[in-house]
Amino acid sequence: MKIGISNDHAGTELKFEIKAYLESKGHTVVNYGTDSKESYDYPLAGKRIGLAVKNKEVDCGIAICGTGIGISLAANKVKGIRAACVSEPVSAKLTKMHNNANIICFGARIVGIETAKAIVDAWLETPFENQQRHLRRIAMISEIEEENQL
Ligand code: RB5
Repeated sequence: MKIGISNDHAGTELKFEIKAYLESKGHTVVNYGTDSKESYDYPLAGKRIGLAVKNKEVDCGIAICGTGIGISLAANKVKGIRAACVSEPVSAKLTKMHNNANIICFGARIVGIETAKAIVDAWLETPFENQQRHLRRIAMISEIEEENQL
């Protein structure tokens, strides 16, 4: 798979660990985040991964900041993005099954490397449950985006 990854300064170290982990499993990982630990604004990192997924430069995205929250809020402002912030693998699995989340977010100050790997594995390995009720609800999310266009 071609997976995008993005991060602010708080997520730099974990980003490199997750990137290496995914590459060791044969994935191609495209880096949209900062490689520095100097302050880097999470809205920019969230926007970059959001646009990369929206424009289909990558199949899906991973976003890491201190909590995972700020970067998910920013990514979710990009049309068509369903970025889910999680801190354990059960939620990661369910957000793929039910919400078809196209970006998974977590916090480098919240989860350790083993939990982060388990989150990424659960999310990547779980298919979307392609059922009518999920499709309808996801379409309702898209309608909210349409209703709020200027
Ligand atoms: C940066 O200090 C921190 O605010 C950021 O990484 C993130 O946690 C925001 O939601």
